[in-house]
Amino acid sequence: MSDRTRIAVLVSGGGTNLQALLDAQQRGQLPSGEIVLVLSNRADAYALERARKAGVPTAVTERRQYPTQAAFEEAMLKEIESHGVQMLILAGFLAILSEDFTRRFPERILNVHPSLIPAFCGKGFYGLKVHEAALARGVKVSGATVHFVNEIPDGGRILLQKAVPVLPDDTPETLQKRIMQECEWVLLPQAAEMVAASLLDQNEKEI
Ligand code: GAR
Repeated sequence: MSDRTRIAVLVSGGGTNLQALLDAQQRGQLPSGEIVLVLSNRADAYALERARKAGVPTAVTERRQYPTQAAFEEAMLKEIESHGVQMLILAGFLAILSEDFTRRFPERILNVHPSLIPAFCGKGFYGLKVHEAALARGVKVSGATVHFVNEIPDGGRILLQKAVPVLPDDTPETLQKRIMQECEWVLLPQAAEMVAASLLDQNEKEI
């Protein structure tokens, strides 16, 4: 049995959260986990470049290459299984995952969401749209949440949350930047280590 939990990070875009995870690993702040695969649903995601620079294997599965959601997910599962992955982290992964997929990994998929769930979450709330909605509602604090993924969009058990103030002259972009820097990039590596460590414990108990 491996002494580190094998992690796949799923991405769609710029990959700054992936970078936070890679940097944490590099600094020794992810001692219970190892990022063994970066899987993107977009061939042009800059996150793939970040993975390559860090020497982490990459794979691309684009939804449009497959006739059905099931075939798309089967292709992802193949990559995940061939790398012996035990835990998944959605780091700005914007494709839908079906219940069939999420049920295979109960409390083994983490997601980072850029609001204080249950505010501004669920279907249609992703990326800048979340911050636009928060500003339109006039909230005075916002933040980020790391939670487990189940069949309900942004509905799984919450692991960590952190809040920051919303400032009077914020734009969606400035609010997004503050939440990324002060919340997401801090919480995601912490939650990754928590879950990776607890999965190692579970494995030991199962032996
Ligand atoms: C992050 O802000 C992440 O929280 C958000 O997309 C951004 C990805 O940035 N995710 C969602 O909105 C999921 N509902 P990144 O590619 O630079 O990590």
